[in-house]
Amino acid sequence: MSVHNPDVKRITTRVIQELKSKGEKISALTAYDYSLARLVDAAGVEIILVGDSASNVMAGHETTLPITLDQMIYHATSVVRAVKRALVVVDLPFGSYQGNSTEALRSAIRIMKESGAHSVKMEGGLEVKESIIRVLSAGVPVMGHLGLTPQSIYKFGTYAVRAKEETEAQKLMEDAKMLEDIGCFGVVLEKIPATLTKQVSESLTIPTIGIGAGPDADGQILVLHDLLGINKEFKPRFLRRYADLHGIITEAIEHYVDDVKDREFPSKEEAY
Ligand code: KIV
Repeated sequence: MSVHNPDVKRITTRVIQELKSKGEKISALTAYDYSLARLVDAAGVEIILVGDSASNVMAGHETTLPITLDQMIYHATSVVRAVKRALVVVDLPFGSYQGNSTEALRSAIRIMKESGAHSVKMEGGLEVKESIIRVLSAGVPVMGHLGLTPQSIYKFGTYAVRAKEETEAQKLMEDAKMLEDIGCFGVVLEKIPATLTKQVSESLTIPTIGIGAGPDADGQILVLHDLLGINKEFKPRFLRRYADLHGIITEAIEHYVDDVKDREFPSKEEAY
C-alpha cells in the first residue's frame, strides 16, 4: 500500500528539499514509457528518473553510452504524458554535455522544451562544473550524480564500488559540496561505501539519493525493471526485488501459446 500524502499536489524541487529538511526519506524510481510511468506515479514515488539506463533496459545495449539525445527525449515525452504528481528528472546522455557548456545548455533546453520534463541529471563533478553552471543559469534544475557514473565505465573498467580509497572519497566529498554550492537541487550517489554516503548526506543541505550507497542517503533510487524482477541475470548485492515479473510474464505468455496451439483461445465468448 502506498503511503504518499495525497495533499501534495505536484512534487517540485522545493518539496524534495523540504522532505530532507523534515527528515522524510525520498523515493525515486526510473521509468521510460507511458504505461509504467503511470503506475510508478500513482504509487506515490516522488522522483521519476528517465534514466539513460534506458540504453540497457529498453534497447539492450551493454552500456549507457549509445543512447542519443533524441531517444532520451522520446522516452521523456512518454513519461511526462503519464505523470501527474512526481518530479520528472531526465538524464543528459553521454556526449550531449561534456564537450562544452554551450552544448550542455542546448541539450538541456531541448529536453525541457521538447519533453516537458522538470529537470535534468548530469554525471560528474569538477570536470563538468562549467556545463552544470550554464544549464543552471538558464533556470533548469540540475541533479548531480557521483560515485559510479556509468557514462565513464570505460575509464573505470568495472562496475565495482567506487571511492573506497581515501583520495577518491575526498574528491567525491569536494565534488558533492561543489554541486551544492553552484545550485544543484540534489545528488545521486551510486555504489559507494555506506559510511561515505552518511558523511556526504550529513554535510550537505541538499538531498542525496542513493543506489547501492547504503541506508543513510536522504532517498533511494532503483531501476524499475530491476525492482520488478524482469531481468533474472542482474543481481547486485544492493538490489531488492519486490516482484518476480520474469516468472509471471513468462508463465502468462507460455499459457497463451499453449492455449493458441490447443485451440483454447479464443473461445466462442471471445469472438464476434
Ligand atoms: O540511468 C539511471 O538509471 C541512473 C540511476 C541508476 C541513478 O542514473
